Amino acid sequence: FRTKGVRELRELKKEGTPITVMTAFDYPTALSLRAADVDICLVGDSLANVALGHASTQQLPLSAMVHHVQAVMRGISSPLLTGPSIAPPPLVIADLPFGSFYASLEAGVRAATALVQEGGAHGVKIEGGSEIVELVERLSSFGIPVIAHIGLQPQRVASSSGYRLQGRTADEASAILAQALELEAAGATAILIECVPNRVGAEISKCLQIPTIGIGAGPGTDGQVLVISDILGDLTSPAHVLADVAAADASTSAQLPLPGASTPQPPKFVRAFAAPVAGGVTVGSLRIAAVRAYVDAVRARTFPDAQAEGYKMKKEEFEEFK
Ligand code: KIV
Ligand code: NA
Repeated sequence: FRTKGVRELRELKKEGTPITVMTAFDYPTALSLRAADVDICLVGDSLANVALGHASTQQLPLSAMVHHVQAVMRGISSPLLTGPSIAPPPLVIADLPFGSFYASLEAGVRAATALVQEGGAHGVKIEGGSEIVELVERLSSFGIPVIAHIGLQPQRVASSSGYRLQGRTADEASAILAQALELEAAGATAILIECVPNRVGAEISKCLQIPTIGIGAGPGTDGQVLVISDILGDLTSPAHVLADVAAADASTSAQLPLPGASTPQPPKFVRAFAAPVAGGVTVGSLRIAAVRAYVDAVRARTFPDAQAEGYKMKKEEFEEFK
């Protein structure tokens, strides 16, 4: 079984075809990405925030990442989706979690090895600039594809960089470009650039031979990545639905959270792709509606239906059993 390859990514850049990247953290999402012909499936450590509910990616241990990569690989390599007319499945890249590569070069090599060997990932993504060059060189020299992640680096949320636009001054932008060039020379397969002005994303992309993947980096990068829960509206919907319920029934509003209270507004660079394709409904709100319909049906005793959803037993058997 053959996935989309690293060489193909370079060809996409050369021919000017945008590279599509989407996150997946579990088996059904991996199947969906494959069915939708995504180029790269990223098992990002945003998993910590959006699938596990942590406040930052700093809470995610390597073992959790390996566990989720394994689930994703079962979807990516599923025999359910094979056939001559079906495009090759995406390349799977997993994030090296916070702390897993800080102690030494050896620590980083071991962590990357675990993601490939135990998890089944094809390659890894690492947040950082000059400080990860040695690790990128090492992994690349042994044939492990590495995507280096520069610009906004969520693993450093506690430091001055925080969750804010990066590279807005000439000095800052030059520093990011210098990092990108250094990482390319170290053998990186691609560079992921997060949250920089459009012009910086486009300029870095022009200066590199290898592809750039942008998130909040404008339309000038060689590819785009978004987080699956953001395009589905998974996390914003519960608060919005509850707010609608609260508005409809003022007597219960005291116990309900305010809209967005538990779920911050997504960043400016996010687009909720699910709503337009589903007539204004997000997958998050669809999930709530489905669970609510189930709850109502059970309470009304209209589920399960004895005929359609039940199993029969011969009357004599039952008489004897009773
Ligand atoms: O972890 C992740 O999903 C990422 C994307 C935000 C690029 O690194
Ligand atoms: Na990440």
